[in-house]
Amino acid sequence: MSAPTPGYLTPSPKKIRVSDLVKLKGQRPWAMLTAYDFASAKAFDDAGVECLLVGDSAANVVLGYDSTTAITMEEMSVLGAAVVRGAEHALVVIDMPFGTYEASDEQAVKSATKLLRATGAHVVKLEGGVRMASRIAALKQAGLAVCAHIGFTPQSVNNLGGFKVQGRDAGADALRADLDAVVAAGADMVVFEMVPAALAAEVTAGCPIPTVGIGAGPDTDAQVLVWHDMAAMYPQGHRPKFVRTFGEVGVALREAAQGYRLAVEAGEFPTAEHCFS
Ligand code: KIV
Repeated sequence: MSAPTPGYLTPSPKKIRVSDLVKLKGQRPWAMLTAYDFASAKAFDDAGVECLLVGDSAANVVLGYDSTTAITMEEMSVLGAAVVRGAEHALVVIDMPFGTYEASDEQAVKSATKLLRATGAHVVKLEGGVRMASRIAALKQAGLAVCAHIGFTPQSVNNLGGFKVQGRDAGADALRADLDAVVAAGADMVVFEMVPAALAAEVTAGCPIPTVGIGAGPDTDAQVLVWHDMAAMYPQGHRPKFVRTFGEVGVALREAAQGYRLAVEAGEFPTAEHCFS
């Protein structure tokens, strides 16, 4: 195992590239975290998080839609560009929004190049295995870096019978086939979402590209979480089984806002030290 990257006080001195993450395979696990704006990107970059994902989960946690399918290319572009401006060192992966790549390989290449030009992100992510292999190959042919996303794919929730673990029993062979297809198509990395831990460990062991797990156990090459889950931004919100809370940011923010409101109401803010003469 190589030493973890320094982070925060001694941030990584260089820009992280896909090849740096590939080199970590078999060395040590690394962390990916979602980010959706300049402030969160800067905070996580300062913390040494090596890879930021501008996930279409922004639809839910930032824009308040009830499905990831609602977010548009324009909305993802604004969020992605802000993340790139805040990410001094981290590699930035961005989700291709639903409806921008399903129709054809040509549509996928046009959409991905538009998204990368608008944001400056480094890698595009798209959902699907076997069914998206030709899209991945076309994106690689166009010179783009690609992250695949298999297992549970939120954009297809209505086709998967709800929010369900994928790859159990007979589904294990389907997951293996999806992984083989995205690797053969040239994907640079792959996300496994809600997959049995033993299956994720087995396929990671034989996989030449980095695997990134969310609800896929400890043995993938990397982990990813939605930051609003990781830091409990919505204290009363549902937390999936695979989430661990690393800070109570939602409570802290509410307390800060309440403290500010009470100080204004009591005439305790501003005081002389906050005034211009
Ligand atoms: O959109 C997102 O945040 C994602 C992660 C759940 C991997 O795709």
